[in-house]
Amino acid sequence: MTDQNTILEVKHMDKNFGVTVALNDVSFSLERGNVYGLIGENGSGKSTVSSIIAGMQPATKGEMTYLGQPWKPSSMLEAQEHGIGMIVQEAGTIPNITVAENIFLGHENLFQKGLFVDKGKMEKAAQDLLDELNLDMFKANQRVSTLDMQARKIVEIAKCLYWKPDLLIVDETSTALSFEGREFLYRVLKKMKEENKVVLFISHDLDEMMQHCDKLTVLRDGVIIGTLDKKDYEPNTIRKMMVGRELEGDYYRSDMEGYSDEVVLRADCITTMEDLLCFDLELHKGEILGIGGLSHCGMHTLGRALFGVEK
Ligand SMILES: Nc1ncnc2c1ncn2[C@@H]1O[C@H](COP(=O)(O)OP(=O)(O)OP(=O)(O)O)[C@@H](O)[C@H]1O
Ligand SMILES: [Mg+2]
Repeated sequence: MTDQNTILEVKHMDKNFGVTVALNDVSFSLERGNVYGLIGENGSGKSTVSSIIAGMQPATKGEMTYLGQPWKPSSMLEAQEHGIGMIVQEAGTIPNITVAENIFLGHENLFQKGLFVDKGKMEKAAQDLLDELNLDMFKANQRVSTLDMQARKIVEIAKCLYWKPDLLIVDETSTALSFEGREFLYRVLKKMKEENKVVLFISHDLDEMMQHCDKLTVLRDGVIIGTLDKKDYEPNTIRKMMVGRELEGDYYRSDMEGYSDEVVLRADCITTMEDLLCFDLELHKGEILGIGGLSHCGMHTLGRALFGVEK
């Protein structure tokens, strides 16, 4: 008998894709009032287990219990209607329709008027939702194709929240968000927790995970390595659990040969109308140069400017 605090239980779950073992005897349970972090290297099985819980695909073996009942969803819509929402790692919106149409995709019948869908009523409901969430960076009647990646992710979050989920799964959303978007997401996590609900949060940002999760479960090669309570968080311990060996400062391959002194591309103080203010860069023969940052930091403009599509 599951106690009332437990929202979801996963028992002995396996998932195979042909010869690939994506999940191997995975068991855990989620209790109300917590933000759970799921962490592990690329390909460790985080998205697979989340997508099974959220009805996107079935498990190969194992069982789940949700709110005390056996749980075997056959679609994301079914999961959504039962209070499980998931923000997927990939783009989860459709560009050529409006924000409102994305939010109510698959639920158009809510606004059915005879043979037609009452678009005005749908837009009003979507706008009310955005207002309630204090989101003013876009409007409900705007086409998603006019929005940047961050705003599209926020549409997905709003869409999940419309159904007031008991369990919200957030799969690697932070990378698409700027500071402002992240702050919104963290407010959502906090509110879910205050309402005695549950979040399953996935991110590659260890600091973010340690800050916002009450517990961290580490997956490696489809196997649960362990779960840590917040008081026991220690970055080196967590990284060691993730990769399965001691990491001692030296992350670089020993066969790394470096690059030559020859400069193949140089930019001197490039500036654009938006985002970029005097950026210098030197790219050498044989060098792989990574440029990273949050959304809106200027990196996309830089790429376009270097390629010549932006002045
Ligand atoms: N649809 C699929 N078909 C075949 N193999 C798959 C499929 N989905 C996932 N896999 C494999 O299952 C394993 C687990 O993948 P999964 O996407 O769950 O990892 P992840 O932890 O979410 O990784 P990432 O951090 O990169 O998002 C990987 O080996 C992956 O290649
Ligand atoms: Mg994933």
